[in-house]
Amino acid sequence: MREKIIVALDVDSEGEALALTEALKDYVGAFKVGLQLFHRAGHGIVTKLVEAGVKVFLDLKFHDIPNTVAQAAAAAVESGAFMFNVHASGGKKMMQEARKAAQASAAALGIAPPLLIGVTVLTSLAEDELQDELGVERSLPEQVAALARLSQEAGLDGVVASAREIPWIRAACGDDFVIVTPGIRPLWAAGDDQKRIVTPQKALEDGADYLVIGRPLTAAADPREAAKKLLAEVASENKGEA
Ligand code: C5P
Repeated sequence: MREKIIVALDVDSEGEALALTEALKDYVGAFKVGLQLFHRAGHGIVTKLVEAGVKVFLDLKFHDIPNTVAQAAAAAVESGAFMFNVHASGGKKMMQEARKAAQASAAALGIAPPLLIGVTVLTSLAEDELQDELGVERSLPEQVAALARLSQEAGLDGVVASAREIPWIRAACGDDFVIVTPGIRPLWAAGDDQKRIVTPQKALEDGADYLVIGRPLTAAADPREAAKKLLAEVASENKGEA
């Protein structure tokens, strides 16, 4: 269970990120560096976290022409991230080039390639926005499933998705495909601005491989206590079912 939790380090400075990492590293599996921290603290933050002994999910959602994304993918591998992502809507060729560059870069470094994850439809987009603003004719479930399938065909390891989308993705891509789910809230936590939230237990039951959890841990008065409470919540619900 512990290994499946990825903490979203959505903070403004290296100091805050390192302090949270120190407090939480014994209770979770990895830490996510997204656009906010990457741009505030600089790209060196990834190497610093890796040197601190933790796994890093580099959540920069690359979306550009295939050659540019391939170069960025090589840099992501060199940073030491264990997972990074691209937008599936960049197309199959873009994803294939990212995969190829990541594998070549990892081989040159003598390391295992990081998990490469596709972003299907941002969970902040509603179906009417997808259709009316972006001109997509498919329904939301069909578009999520189609982009997950395209990611798989391009050789990606999995996708980021709302826990509610797991059944559509499992149906399209099978069990051997990683699903990373944000929007997780333990029973005792506030929903914040997330609209479609699920509990950690529910996301795991539905087949999520990794849970991205931010504010319930990072904004807690005592992040370490919050992490212990989260692990206890999942453990006790598991026991209840056994
Ligand atoms: O604080 P909270 O638990 O809401 O943080 C969730 C993290 O997951 C944030 O870093 C957010 O950017 C990210 N995320 C998300 N929904 C997505 C993709 C990523 O909430 N569809």
